[in-house]
Amino acid sequence: MWNHFLPSNLKAYLDTLCVVGKTIKYASKGPKGLLENRKVLYIQSSGGIYDHESLEGKDYGHNYLKHIMSFIGIEDVLAIFIDGVDAFKDKASEIKAIG
Ligand SMILES: Cc1cc2nc3c(=O)[nH]c(=O)nc-3n(C[C@H](O)[C@H](O)[C@H](O)COP(=O)(O)O)c2cc1C
Repeated sequence: MWNHFLPSNLKAYLDTLCVVGKTIKYASKGPKGLLENRKVLYIQSSGGIYDHESLEGKDYGHNYLKHIMSFIGIEDVLAIFIDGVDAFKDKASEIKAIG
């Protein structure tokens, strides 16, 4: 997590995935994702601890990633969060091991 969002290099990568004619098509009803039967595994670490499921939880990155995956047709996103690695530095190895 960078500043409550995704690291900028991951954002740049996501931008390269959203390509009309390859991963999205625009139909009369609007955009349709073309990647079907795909799965995504998203692993995110953060210095602090967050509620990851709503925007009120301030984890904008995970929610944005799910939105973009849905945009290109992928609904099956498994997320693993490694929270608190800076807030609890002495327990960082333990936190990473549990995932
Ligand atoms: C530029 C930058 C911004 C960060 N912003 C946040 C943040 O908003 N919230 C948070 O909990 N941790 C933040 N962190 C801490 C990192 O998320 C944390 O140290 C990192 O996930 C550890 O993973 P790594 O060992 O792969 O670097 C930030 C770190 C950097 C370098």
